[in-house]
Amino acid sequence: MSTAADAETHAVHALAVRLAREAGAIQRARYETELRIDSKSRPIDLVTEVDRACEAIVVEALRRERPGDDILAEEGGAHEDAGAAWRWIVDPLDGTVNFAHGYPCFCVSIGVERDGRREVGVVYDPLRDELFEAVRGGGARRNGRPVRVSQAASVQRALLATGFAYDVHDSADDNLDRLVRAVKRAGGVRRDGSAAIDLCYVACGRFDGYWELKLHAWDVAAGILIVEEAGGRVSDLAGGSPPASGHEILASNGRLHEDLLALLG
Ligand code: IPD
Ligand code: CA
Ligand code: CA
Repeated sequence: MSTAADAETHAVHALAVRLAREAGAIQRARYETELRIDSKSRPIDLVTEVDRACEAIVVEALRRERPGDDILAEEGGAHEDAGAAWRWIVDPLDGTVNFAHGYPCFCVSIGVERDGRREVGVVYDPLRDELFEAVRGGGARRNGRPVRVSQAASVQRALLATGFAYDVHDSADDNLDRLVRAVKRAGGVRRDGSAAIDLCYVACGRFDGYWELKLHAWDVAAGILIVEEAGGRVSDLAGGSPPASGHEILASNGRLHEDLLALLG
């Protein structure tokens, strides 16, 4: 690292990795144990004591070690928005429904913006011990090794993933029309229940494409950078820049992107 700016990015990246691993260790230790589970916006929108414990460990460390930075954390532990150069966007446990049911697909997701631009992304899956990470301009890695998106060139053979928002029982904008179109055209469609892992699986070629509606900034802040740094493309469903809010997202290996926009847009 030659410049001060590089050194700071390096320090932020190292801290994001450390905190993702620490929160992931809590998830691993509490997996398949008795949990206190509450509902949030709807009965199917869950939060467990582990979501809160993971958020607390991350937010407390950030306040201690990076006191000037902004933080957006899902469970309300921090919504600091003072216009700082660095902003941490934390999903302490992505895949809460899976975690609550003992379904082994969940992670910690930490994305960090610098001056409003995605700079660092870290996603840690504690059960598989897989750490996905990217620093802007430096490529994407899984457990230290570079990853690339798939080479798939045909939707008919593509493995896609999607998900559904917690208002799916009572909203007409429920993503089911797109699901039907994709099931009828693609090689396969999965719904694994963790947006951050879905994005990382596009980055490393396990999925060829992924789309979802009504996500939040914390679901996608790390994953978008990881896909882009792995050579993939991320947009909204009209082909524009992916909204940082996560409201609408299509991620692909790039080769399939126009075909997927035609199918899902
Ligand atoms: C959810 C997961 C899920 C997606 C939902 C998200 P949470 O996040 O990423 O895959 O379909 O829309 O809200 O609640 O487990 O952090
Ligand atoms: Ca989430
Ligand atoms: Ca979450």
